[in-house]
Amino acid sequence: MDYKNIIYTLENGIAKIEINRPKAFNALNTETNNEIEDVVDAITDDPEVRVLIITGNEKVFVAGADVTELADADPRGAYDNCSLAHRIFKKLEALHAPVIAAICGPTLGGGLEMALSCDFRISGESGLFGLPEITLGIIPGAGGTQRLTKLIGASRAKELVMLGNRIDAQTAKEYGLVNLLVKDEEVMAEAMKMADRLCKKPAVALKFAKECVNFGANMDLDTGLEFEKSRFSLAFNTADQKEGMKAFIEKRKPEFINK
Ligand code: CAA
Repeated sequence: MDYKNIIYTLENGIAKIEINRPKAFNALNTETNNEIEDVVDAITDDPEVRVLIITGNEKVFVAGADVTELADADPRGAYDNCSLAHRIFKKLEALHAPVIAAICGPTLGGGLEMALSCDFRISGESGLFGLPEITLGIIPGAGGTQRLTKLIGASRAKELVMLGNRIDAQTAKEYGLVNLLVKDEEVMAEAMKMADRLCKKPAVALKFAKECVNFGANMDLDTGLEFEKSRFSLAFNTADQKEGMKAFIEKRKPEFINK
């Protein structure tokens, strides 16, 4: 697949989307959003894709929505822009495969909101996180007010959403926004290491695990527990459950077939 604003690759089960608009600090314009959505649609439920890594370059992850494109929007245009971002990031969040954001540099506005839709965030020391929308006279419109609050709590989320604070990678790690903090030059290697570990997990159980955590985060406990019950039961319909438990009893490593 050839794109103008992203580079897409798939190798050994690991798909990679590299945002590639260096002149605009990787800002997400509509064309870039459409390209990301096209990839996500194409790989959804593709068993060949075991993990997706989203990254920028060594200088920036994504500096947000493209302000030059948004500046003249009217409320209807802003609504459509917001709807597009919500749709894409929900698809990303719901992808069957785990998604890792591999981050260096500014991760702002829509860039942070995209990273928040991923399952894991690995940041280099240059990672800089913020939702600067308030400084532009608007509010985050790609899920930031909701996903950030669920992840780090309302009090800390308001520091970014209302004060427009930008936090460094160390603070983001302390807040639980970043899973792993490493040197910039190690970010991709660590993302690949995590991807390799995830590739070795039984794919169906991994998908169920992701679904349960994501579903439960937006539900009351009883509804979440019912969902967990359904996925726990369904896991016993897989060959990997039989193999995983047999291997444990026989004191050997399981050989999962992802079915
Ligand atoms: N949209 C469009 N262009 C952007 C951009 C953005 N979000 N962010 C940076 N750029 C452009 C700059 O306009 C500049 O272009 P020129 O070279 O043509 O002048 C170029 O990238 C480099 O930017 P700076 O000169 O500012 O470089 P810097 O190194 O001093 O700072 C930065 C880099 C920290 C990323 C800084 O540009 C910045 O703070 N950007 C913030 C952008 C922002 O406010 N993002 C939120 C957007 S709104 C949003 O995301 C809404 C939503 O919820 C979906």
